[in-house]
Amino acid sequence: MLEIRPPAEADQAGIAAVGALAFNMEARTEGVNFDSRRRLCSYDGERVVAIAHSIGFGQWLGGQQVPCAGIGAVAVLPEYRGQGAARALVSELLAEERDNGVAVSALYPANAQLYRHLGYEYAGLHPGFRAPIADVPPARAEVAEMGGADLDAVIACFSRFAAAHNGPVQPLDRARWETDVLAHRGEGTHQRTVVVPGPGDAIAGYASYFLESAGDRGYRVACKHLVAGTPAALASLLGYFRRFENGAAEIAWSGPPTGGPVGLALATNAFALQPRLNRWMGRVLDVPRALEGRGYPAVSGEVVIEIRDPLFPANDGPWLVRADGGRVTVTPAPRAAPLPARPLPIGLFSALYTGFATVGDLVLLGALGPADERLAVLSALFAGPVPWMPDFF
Ligand SMILES: CC(C)(COP(=O)(O)OP(=O)(O)OC[C@H]1O[C@@H](n2cnc3c(N)ncnc32)[C@H](O)[C@@H]1OP(=O)(O)O)[C@@H](O)C(=O)NCCC(=O)NCCS
Repeated sequence: MLEIRPPAEADQAGIAAVGALAFNMEARTEGVNFDSRRRLCSYDGERVVAIAHSIGFGQWLGGQQVPCAGIGAVAVLPEYRGQGAARALVSELLAEERDNGVAVSALYPANAQLYRHLGYEYAGLHPGFRAPIADVPPARAEVAEMGGADLDAVIACFSRFAAAHNGPVQPLDRARWETDVLAHRGEGTHQRTVVVPGPGDAIAGYASYFLESAGDRGYRVACKHLVAGTPAALASLLGYFRRFENGAAEIAWSGPPTGGPVGLALATNAFALQPRLNRWMGRVLDVPRALEGRGYPAVSGEVVIEIRDPLFPANDGPWLVRADGGRVTVTPAPRAAPLPARPLPIGLFSALYTGFATVGDLVLLGALGPADERLAVLSALFAGPVPWMPDFF
């Protein structure tokens, strides 16, 4: 029988060993235990045999930041796999995060089945694009290398950008920007962040990038974030990257699934732009908190929803969801309220919640009836751009 508990300082090497074997990495202990991640381990006696952690994010949905647990580094020693260790450990971590007031969770699944059992469903995209660097429009580049004092302005620039999208996450802990979000050692070479100065102390745009091999064709400039808040900032950043044309073969960036303004600004012919899509999974941890925490289009209406959440039955409801001009309140449905024909499984509800699944998708999957009177209100509430995020964690 394994015991689940937060690790002690002495467990750093054990945690590093489990992670290194699972992800075929070198075992590194620095930062393993005492940064801002919430970490739980499973122990066989004193030995660490399974690990998982949660990163505190705000996830942008409808212009609001919803408290989000980013689950990562889920790993079990091979001898202990297939016995429910991961399932028990992640369940416990999610329960703790829910008790802490965290409303939603997101993760990149190596194994979707494991997470579906825990109530997750595919809920957004991690799009990447590559294009020939010679297709980037030349322009005068008003760009400077980021200084230490620029970090708050960079974070503010990202928040303004992310507020117009569904799905992007940003760490609540400022220190994670330097260790994880912005290009850092361990990914590619020559990690750098450059900024386009904005009015006053503000920053109008920034790009955080590294260089990586593009095989026979030389190297590629890979942007982790390429964020422009004004037309001038977009032109400057693109003009800056165009100056790599004598060495680099390609530019790569993560942006909305359409390719966004960067894709539209390039002179790229049809198949020369190569898109690549990974999907992340999402899970609503606390139904009323999540519904009241995100933003919506200016919709008014009322629906009763009932959820089936075996892990957190407190989510089941039924809930009365009232929208008034896009402001949503959630209360337990009065006993007399007519109940929907069938409860929504928490996973598909989570996919609807981020706007990744449409009500039409849920009808075809049998989770909503084709004549359900709630379809129009649900569809209007969760309408919006396809959810995506630039970050991988
Ligand atoms: C993925 C991993 C964490 C699973 O750990 P585990 O303890 O073996 O998983 P569990 O026994 O708790 O399995 C939970 C559920 O997921 C399913 N599952 C687990 N691994 C699976 C696999 N490789 N393929 C399909 N389903 C799988 C199990 O069938 C089980 O479902 P069930 O309860 O209906 O039987 C483990 O295999 C591992 O460490 N892999 C290497 C690292 C990795 O890929 N981590 C994932 C990062 S997101």
